[in-house]
Amino acid sequence: MVDATTCGTTDARTILHVRGLAVSAGPRALLRDIDLAIPERRVFGIIGPSGAGKSTLLRCLNRLVDLDESLHVSGDVELDGRSIFAPDVDVDTLRARVGILFQQPAIFPVSIEKNVLFGARHLRRLDRRAAADLAERALRDAALWDEVKDRLDAPAVKLSVGQQQRLCLARALALDPEVLLMDEPTSALDVQSTDAIERLIVRLAPRCTIVLVTHDIDQARRVTDRLACLGLRDGVGRLVQCGPCCELLDGRTNAEVAERLGGGSCCD
Ligand SMILES: Nc1ncnc2c1ncn2[C@@H]1O[C@H](COP(=O)(O)OP(=O)(O)OP(=O)(O)O)[C@@H](O)[C@H]1O
Ligand SMILES: [Mg+2]
Repeated sequence: MVDATTCGTTDARTILHVRGLAVSAGPRALLRDIDLAIPERRVFGIIGPSGAGKSTLLRCLNRLVDLDESLHVSGDVELDGRSIFAPDVDVDTLRARVGILFQQPAIFPVSIEKNVLFGARHLRRLDRRAAADLAERALRDAALWDEVKDRLDAPAVKLSVGQQQRLCLARALALDPEVLLMDEPTSALDVQSTDAIERLIVRLAPRCTIVLVTHDIDQARRVTDRLACLGLRDGVGRLVQCGPCCELLDGRTNAEVAERLGGGSCCD
């Protein structure tokens, strides 16, 4: 949780640096002039109205945006000081270092254990012992172990949606990511499952930077340290403001942010 005395200010070093990022689809600009410094081992929130480009921005951070050939990206994103668009960057390795969790859990129609190990097996060979150890560690990290330890061979699709979301988290954690991108990870979940994911976000942040897109101001208040607010100007997503969470949501800047978005809250 944010330390109220420091208002989320941080002297942590920057792990992701977004510089002059712009995204377009043919002649249509979707995002323009995005500059962000995302501090290491904190929870960095992104809020803004629907269509402002939050998901598109998130997908730029691990180059998932490459999969959509209709999109053109300019500007740069540096991970640990190195451009993720450099020609020698291996995209699979990048996406292991910068994992992603979506709104709807993306579950493969295989067993729970195979789901956890899916990405790790793609990147390296694992013997049976190493595979079992890694699956247990990742499931424990995602607070799912106790619920599934007796049925690791069962189909993952039989889990509840909340459990499936934690399974996706375990799959990302099995790769030891430095950054985890989360695109409205609780919007399909009930209150209890949302609470479980929020607890995990807070618990994981000291070892893994989290970038969280959320529509839920209360969630942003509960778990984020810093916030970026995107807005739409002339139909193009721009950065309206970025700063410590409580400063954006509770301070004088809140009214300014709301006004620049055309009234209402950042998340309308
Ligand atoms: N491949 C694409 N081609 C054309 N337009 C696109 C493409 N992908 C996204 N867009 C458009 O870009 C804009 C931003 O989309 P994006 O999904 O990033 O918004 P968002 O802020 O995540 O919205 P929401 O809060 O509803 O999830 C939208 O107008 C969307 O229609
Ligand atoms: Mg979105």
